[in-house]
Amino acid sequence: MPGQPPARRTVLKGAALAGAAGLGVAACSTESKVGHAENPTPTAPVDLGAADAVPVGGAKLYREQRLVVHCPAKGQYKAFSAQCTHAGCVLDKLEGTEGNCPCHGSRFDVTTGKALVGPATVPLPEVPVRTEDGRLVAGPDA
Ligand code: FES
Repeated sequence: MPGQPPARRTVLKGAALAGAAGLGVAACSTESKVGHAENPTPTAPVDLGAADAVPVGGAKLYREQRLVVHCPAKGQYKAFSAQCTHAGCVLDKLEGTEGNCPCHGSRFDVTTGKALVGPATVPLPEVPVRTEDGRLVAGPDA
């Protein structure tokens, strides 16, 4: 049979378009789930590796663990959630002790958690952190 009746082709094309639109919605909601973890702070201890990886007077971002650690003086550490308090994206980089949110440009002072530039206004929540045998462990005590 040479070709199909035009009416049938139109139906198929419509179905393909609907499928593509559906995929777009699914991808969007998956992305927002990744960016919006329910708990911005760990509920179990998290090993962050060697404590001396955090520069004295500086800070280090642990994106995978959604944490940022500041070292005000040798052997002292402060940790904060690295999840932006605006809409939940994870900070993508530090410039000195200023953390940057890639989503809408908020910036945080990671020595205090304070929001320096909006749209975020709420500070990053502080997370308990301690050292164990030269390693940093963040989150609640085991
Ligand atoms: S989620 Fe960070 S600025 Fe909007």
